[in-house]
Amino acid sequence: MSKQECSCATPRQVATGDRAILPEGARTIPIYVMGKRYEVPETLTIMKAMEFAGFKFLRGAGCRGGICGACPTVYRKEGDYKLYFGLACQTVVEPNMYLAQIPFYPANRAQYEIDTIKPAAESIHALYPELFRCVACNNCTKACPMGVEVLDYISAIKQGDIARAARLSFDCIQCGMCASRCMGELPQYHIAQLTRRIYGKYIQPRAEHLEKRVAEIESGKYDATLKDLQSMDKEKLEKLYKEREREPDMAPLGTWMPKDTQYL
Ligand code: SF4
Ligand code: SF4
Ligand code: FES
Repeated sequence: MSKQECSCATPRQVATGDRAILPEGARTIPIYVMGKRYEVPETLTIMKAMEFAGFKFLRGAGCRGGICGACPTVYRKEGDYKLYFGLACQTVVEPNMYLAQIPFYPANRAQYEIDTIKPAAESIHALYPELFRCVACNNCTKACPMGVEVLDYISAIKQGDIARAARLSFDCIQCGMCASRCMGELPQYHIAQLTRRIYGKYIQPRAEHLEKRVAEIESGKYDATLKDLQSMDKEKLEKLYKEREREPDMAPLGTWMPKDTQYL
């Protein structure tokens, strides 16, 4: 991998096709993608910088909003021994970043039927015995671009505390970076997903309002309304949408109700 001097000391104008993203006079900086040097605007995320450099994402991109976990990227910075981990759609480029995208990481995913599984920690331990290979090195937590306390949720699962593990792993977006650094070769995110499924299906208190609404739908309460909406043309639907009563932005939770409740 060849290094060249950072061009940020000699700014020059670049095309600013998307003015919402690129301010006038944005400067370029060098980044390295799979070892090759590219000049990109300094204001872009890694994902947009790579597109600017001519890459087209066939894999490794999804939501572009930091939610889907498709775009994990490993990088180093110039003169820094540390490995950094980030989401390409969220991380802004820095001069002389060395980037590698990891859109998929092979990790063991156990087969199970959530409807028939015994809702207990022993089920998780039996499906993922490698849990007990964890040596508490904490590499997983350091690698997580979402700031999830990975070691803590793995420890909670080992200790049988399903509720704590479900809560701790809630922000996991399944990017796989934790597994890529694991000395025990655990698929942490698959284990956490099973844990949350068990918690959501068997342990968490039932959401009564949701069950009530599902029952209402199944009873046909909204059939006529739906038929009415389906019969409207585009203009009428747009008018209805634009003129709908909207909840005020800062309304305290659970206090607002529209005057017209025919669609509730
Ligand atoms: S816990 Fe693992 S899979 Fe989940 S977001 Fe963090 S690094 Fe990605
Ligand atoms: S990286 Fe693997 S071995 Fe290290 S703490 Fe995390 S789960 Fe345990
Ligand atoms: S594209 Fe979905 S998290 Fe980056």
